Amino acid sequence: MCELKGRKLVLGVSGGVAAYKSAELVRLLGKAGADVHVVLTEGGARFVTPVTFQALSGNPVWTDLWDARMDNNMAHIDLTRGTDAVLVAPATADVIARLAQGRADDLLSTLCLARECPLLLAPAMNRQMWEHPATQRNVAQVTADGAIVFGPDAGDQACGEVGMGRMLEPEDLLEHVIAFFQPKLLAGRRVVLTAGPTFEAIDPVRGITNSSSGKMGYALAQACARAGADVVLVSGPTGLPAPLGTRRLDVRSALEMRDAVMGEIAAADVFIGVAAVADYRPLNSAEHKMKKTSAELTLTLTPNPDILAEVAALPTPPFCVGFAAESRDLDAYAEGKRRAKRLPMLVGNLVQDGLGSDDNQVILYDDAGRHPLERAPKAEVARRIVEHLASLLPGRRV
Ligand code: C5P
Repeated sequence: MCELKGRKLVLGVSGGVAAYKSAELVRLLGKAGADVHVVLTEGGARFVTPVTFQALSGNPVWTDLWDARMDNNMAHIDLTRGTDAVLVAPATADVIARLAQGRADDLLSTLCLARECPLLLAPAMNRQMWEHPATQRNVAQVTADGAIVFGPDAGDQACGEVGMGRMLEPEDLLEHVIAFFQPKLLAGRRVVLTAGPTFEAIDPVRGITNSSSGKMGYALAQACARAGADVVLVSGPTGLPAPLGTRRLDVRSALEMRDAVMGEIAAADVFIGVAAVADYRPLNSAEHKMKKTSAELTLTLTPNPDILAEVAALPTPPFCVGFAAESRDLDAYAEGKRRAKRLPMLVGNLVQDGLGSDDNQVILYDDAGRHPLERAPKAEVARRIVEHLASLLPGRRV
């Protein structure tokens, strides 16, 4: 993961019990490549000590407006210069109220006022504090002033109550931060994708499937969501979590996958077929578990519909992107498939380069020719694919 490489972030941690999650958040932001500088409020430092944040961020931690370690004694100015965003997580009701008023009576509030970069807030508080009209007024005010608010979430609260006000989990906050920095190349577009393998039942417990992990399709769904698209992910059995901001429809067989796709395709601007759809299914699936005998067993297979070809052949098709995983002669097979299925774009890779692994090396094929991409983690490859398809989109659809 390197989605935040080269980004400098200030993480403000205020005095809520959710501060313990911010320690993990620092670790995740750092792992994604960000240079994180933590500013603790007095309350924040009561929940988690500066030592923890210093160890996890690898940077000095700041708590005091008058910190003498800053040469010119202007931590509130220097900390945000050259910074890509200030993220306050947890942002307590008190911090949000003080930001709404433009107060400058501690380091965090002062640097928020003095900053030139975006301000991102992850509220965390008791449900009644969150629902209170004063808090809602303050949230509306900071939003009107340009702050971007992530969450909060509903669920169990540290006080024992259940309701709205939990800080988002560190993984979700990381995803929001990554998405925040992505150009919104697919804003206003609806993307339908297929991902994963299909499972073609032989009987209630057995079936034919393949080794597709679904990782590439999920990475692409995530990249589309980060690029601002409204994403529907039609997924075969994978066990992967749905990427934030996508709507997942779970299916098992190719026939179910086709039905789910056709139910969503009318409103789609883009269709991306990443799934490794089984080419055949058993002609007859047994109603009950088949019993073992010593006789040979012959399965009769019948062809499955080609979902991508069907979508591409619609009277007004969305922009269709296909995938081709080949074990040899990639250029010839991939370009042949693109033409046969009448696709404006196809992503080709050699199975030995991508199947099941976290990295992938692909070549993009379109009317202008072939465009090899460097080997990279699937999230990065997905981002590059989205960039390319977005560049081909304008004017494609009537
Ligand atoms: O013809 P082949 O299966 O190699 O084509 C691969 C592309 O077609 C992939 O994008 C895959 O998702 C799609 N496909 C499909 N339905 C099938 C077979 C493949 O949508 N039955």
